[in-house]
Amino acid sequence: MSKVPANGGQAAPDYLQDFIRHTPGSQRLHRQALRCTPGGISHNHRFHAPYPLYAAKARGSHLWDVDGQEYIDLWMAHYDAILGHAPPEVLGPVQAALADGLHVGTAMAHEVALAERVCRMVPCAEQVRFCTSGTEATMYAVRLARGFTGRNVILKMVGGWHGANTDLMVDVAAPEYIGPECKGLLPGLERWTRAVQFNDIEDTARGIREAGDDWAGIILEPALGSGGFMTAEADYLNFLREETRRAGAVLIFDEVITGFRLAPGGAQEHFGVTPDLVTLGKVMGGGMAIGAVAGRAEIMSISAVDPRKSKRDKVVVGGGTYSCNHLSMVAGNATLEILQRRAGEIYPAIAGGNQRFCAGLRNVFHDVGLPVHVNELGSLQEVHFLKEAGLTVRNMAEMMEHTYPEKRLELAGRLRNHGVFLYHGGAISLAHSPGDIDALLAAYRACAEEMADGRPA
Ligand SMILES: Cc1ncc(COP(=O)(O)O)c(C=O)c1O
Repeated sequence: MSKVPANGGQAAPDYLQDFIRHTPGSQRLHRQALRCTPGGISHNHRFHAPYPLYAAKARGSHLWDVDGQEYIDLWMAHYDAILGHAPPEVLGPVQAALADGLHVGTAMAHEVALAERVCRMVPCAEQVRFCTSGTEATMYAVRLARGFTGRNVILKMVGGWHGANTDLMVDVAAPEYIGPECKGLLPGLERWTRAVQFNDIEDTARGIREAGDDWAGIILEPALGSGGFMTAEADYLNFLREETRRAGAVLIFDEVITGFRLAPGGAQEHFGVTPDLVTLGKVMGGGMAIGAVAGRAEIMSISAVDPRKSKRDKVVVGGGTYSCNHLSMVAGNATLEILQRRAGEIYPAIAGGNQRFCAGLRNVFHDVGLPVHVNELGSLQEVHFLKEAGLTVRNMAEMMEHTYPEKRLELAGRLRNHGVFLYHGGAISLAHSPGDIDALLAAYRACAEEMADGRPA
């Protein structure tokens, strides 16, 4: 990710100069934040050059920045706001639940209702445990896989982001992808967590062979988020299902993004492949902090509270002060209830809106002569800038070889000047109207023309 220094040091490209001209409030806040927060922000993804856009509020499909400018949102709160920002049918129950307190800190009925709902909707979920983030959920899932099998090696995908989970901080980010992700990790992490190439059966078979009889499990997103929702191929998922069964290893789908978004039962319903464990978050919280690990009762039950069990016979899952906060449970219940009851209308509507948007995007880039691959999966989409027309983008190796990944960021930067907000990838929600899609396409066309004109980035 190319970042222009926040305090200058080099002239910002033209489109960033435009951004600077119309976002004085964001610039002021970032300067203030830099004095007390390293880099001026607490979530790395929310930084974009030259400084983050500071939002004032979001409603429906739109958000407003602190300078009063309005944007059509495609980021949609890290892809969580499937019904749109602050939908009244969710806001109402949350406001009512505020009367019961902010955080009570003991078991409440709402968590039972949400657990039952998750187990009804998600094919692999015989049992579920809640936590407060997707990062925690992936940490527990890996621990469960190791605890259940008594083995150590976890395989993951090159480029797979599962939150800043220490166990999985290997081969995550461009451009190198290889090795531990940062300082501060224990030496030898890559011996126990190893990456294989998404959609590449040969490379994955190599990883499985090398893990041998110490293979505990494999974790993957069925649509690789950091790769713009690259979609798992049916053969690849079936191969993983068969190999994990054969070896007695645990197949974990990280459905923090795809859960309840691709279908009521998530990617596992969409693709028809049932994992052993799933990690969930985002949509499930209805806009509030949440995470969960769910799956086969045989695996989940080793995390049960049982004072007769010694440390050696159980896996610790849970322990967060805010776990099952009733506001998250209420927002999650309200959201999932709507998604389940109106599934026949909602999923076709958001996928249909996205289909029209993606078809329009292909026309826009074709018209200006920029070769792109528009990846489309349900309500999710991403534009990859190809080095040559016709190249494929099936995994991170192909993304690095066949595309200009930095142009995705340039496009997002230019779109902010045309009233569209996103970082990378985009999510259509139920709140995006046909008019929003027309306006999005007009903004993309303006940016595509700027980029095709060869305006200096
Ligand atoms: C696939 C995936 N897993 C896990 C996480 C971590 O979830 P959270 O941000 O709730 O900790 C994310 C967050 O973006 C994600 O995209």
